[in-house]
Amino acid sequence: MGKILITGGLGYIGSHTCLLFLENGYEVIAYDLLINSELKTFYKIQALLREKNLDLTKKFSFVKGDIRNKKLLSEVFHRNKSIGKPITGVIHFAGLKSVQISINEPLLYWDCNVNGTINLLEIMENNNCKNIVFSSSATVYGESKNNLLDEHTELNPCNPYGSTKLAVENILKNLSKSKKNWRIGILRYFNPAGAHPSGILGEFPKSNLENLFPKICDVAAKKKDKIFLYGKNWPTKDGTCIRDYLHVMDLSEAHLLTYEHLITNKEFLIFNVGSGKGTSVLELLKIFEDTNKCNIPFEFADEREGDVSRLVADTKLITSKLNWSIKRDLFEICKSGWSFYKKKNNIF
Ligand SMILES: NC(=O)c1ccc[n+]([C@@H]2O[C@H](COP(=O)([O-])OP(=O)(O)OC[C@H]3O[C@@H](n4cnc5c(N)ncnc54)[C@H](O)[C@@H]3O)[C@@H](O)[C@H]2O)c1
Repeated sequence: MGKILITGGLGYIGSHTCLLFLENGYEVIAYDLLINSELKTFYKIQALLREKNLDLTKKFSFVKGDIRNKKLLSEVFHRNKSIGKPITGVIHFAGLKSVQISINEPLLYWDCNVNGTINLLEIMENNNCKNIVFSSSATVYGESKNNLLDEHTELNPCNPYGSTKLAVENILKNLSKSKKNWRIGILRYFNPAGAHPSGILGEFPKSNLENLFPKICDVAAKKKDKIFLYGKNWPTKDGTCIRDYLHVMDLSEAHLLTYEHLITNKEFLIFNVGSGKGTSVLELLKIFEDTNKCNIPFEFADEREGDVSRLVADTKLITSKLNWSIKRDLFEICKSGWSFYKKKNNIF
């Protein structure tokens, strides 16, 4: 089945994806600097494999490293080649993802997300490994008049984080035209949320909570009194921002399908990955409260720089090409996300 390097493999989406590739017969190396994840996740993935009686633990390894560390990344590729098991593809999650920090620290974001990716691509090319799936983001679109965003919607990121994602997309587009046999999949995620049904893998940012879900869980657990909602006068039905939430398990499955499609068809693919349904922040709070029988007090705060009112995917392309669509709804997202949070924080 081949050996896959998963950069950022112990992070939120990476950990679910490592597990899925292992369950589907791939050997996996997770390469991660652990700046927003922890080594425990590696052992949790192994435990989940054992629970399924899958004796795959030897097929899963971890290297702590930075994608900007060319020497170490090269060594990983060479080591695997020298034992006759070369890395045949990369799923590239590693990167920084905070819109707000990217506004204050743009150089850090360009260095990690763009220079880091250039390093990775150079090393892949030197080792004749030319299959990659890259984590892009709906932030590449920015504010748009369209209700649903398809892959041809104008690209207009309105924060440095989104600009770094678009820069990497352009580099990958150039590579695919270089006729050097690259097979490239770019997935533009909308809003991943939820957790693995075991309650063992999920999202736990080490600092700077920015995604809405971990913040809602902190309030549900009474670690915080209330949640701040940024803006109440957005041009939407209830004045709060509209986003497109999709379950992290559905998102992981999109990676596997994209990768397998690339291997059999030499292609350059760009897909939106979302549910195709818009949910306002207030609607999401209500669904979370109803699902988990709790109360989430909130207060409105000023709109944040770099935010947009609405980001909802048109997912026709990925559905028609890969036969992928979401299998899990917002109820499952809220239930699994809260169940993971409770386990992680020993709340019973
Ligand atoms: N979660 C989202 O809402 C979302 C939405 C759109 C796109 N994305 C993109 O998806 C990818 C994964 O997101 P996530 O939510 O799993 O984030 P995450 O922070 O949980 O995972 C990223 C992982 O990459 C690692 N990492 C960061 N910089 C690194 C470096 N220089 N070298 C090696 N490892 C490094 C971190 O330690 C972390 O484990 C990111 O590229 C992110 O920009 C995420």
